[in-house]
Amino acid sequence: MNNKLIQPYSLGDSLTFSEVSPGFPVIKVNNSFATATISLYGGQVLEYKPHAQSEQVIWLSDKAIFKNNKAIRGGIPICWPWFGDYDKNNNDLPTHSHPPAHGFARITHWNIHSTKLLSDGSTEIILQMPCHSNCQEYQAANAHYHLSLEMTLVVSNHLKVSLTTTNNGSRNWLLADALHSYFRVSNINKVTIQGLEQAHYVDKLKKGLTGTQESELWVKEEIDKVFLNTSNEIILNDPGFDRAIFISKENSSSTVIWNPWQKKSSQMLDMPAAAWLNMICIEPANVLENQRLLTPGESHTLSTSIKVKN
Ligand code: BG6
Repeated sequence: MNNKLIQPYSLGDSLTFSEVSPGFPVIKVNNSFATATISLYGGQVLEYKPHAQSEQVIWLSDKAIFKNNKAIRGGIPICWPWFGDYDKNNNDLPTHSHPPAHGFARITHWNIHSTKLLSDGSTEIILQMPCHSNCQEYQAANAHYHLSLEMTLVVSNHLKVSLTTTNNGSRNWLLADALHSYFRVSNINKVTIQGLEQAHYVDKLKKGLTGTQESELWVKEEIDKVFLNTSNEIILNDPGFDRAIFISKENSSSTVIWNPWQKKSSQMLDMPAAAWLNMICIEPANVLENQRLLTPGESHTLSTSIKVKN
């Protein structure tokens, strides 16, 4: 969407537009509850901070690259319609030439459908993903791809992100989706993650070895685990920032936890050297055996609500 097309969606001073880089417009929200930044590229929340908080809630890399076909490092990237590397066995469909990791929603320029100031002072934004380049290439390879994707964001004393997929085709579709949320923390060594106790996980760093999370989770090394069959709220306790972040979710049966740790992040061009210390990904998702089968005409809404308490 070019600048002329997006301007009519502004809402006085509470919703304005700017550009992080030429061709990469962002929505800036500043309402009575919070500030937030949302990139139309990727349909991606980049920042969220309630006014009472001194620190950003969401982590965004200082070295994030804004470039077509490159995912923005940080914020809440959308993994869709597959998760991780494209798995043609799981997807049961022919692949296209270079299937991008985590799908193409996060590397597509989205459109604004509507913006609204709600009666309680919250801001609602609805974005839609058009089918451009990567999506068209995928569709050309997979004649049965007839999905539509819409996202509703509510910026309030909490941040709510709802991602709705509709299967407009005449065949069942096996969907993977994730809200790959990066949270900003004072020090990864000092935070705890509650809500995954007794959940079974697949450890992606150990060739899919499975296990059970016995107690609250401390992250003391690189982690890349998919917790399955869990819809629990997660509490990210951060004594260093004197706060806890409550991450609840709906229609999500998996939770992915990821931190690349020192060595891997030093190999990533879009992450500052010490940034792994200040972030953790907690991703409401439906992946692996929790993928969702969408029958023709069926819609599915994955959502998360993020709230900070001191
Ligand atoms: C996580 C995956 O969700 O995302 C990891 O479980 C992956 O395996 C990570 O490394 C980051 O992915 P990307 O494509 O954004 O670098």
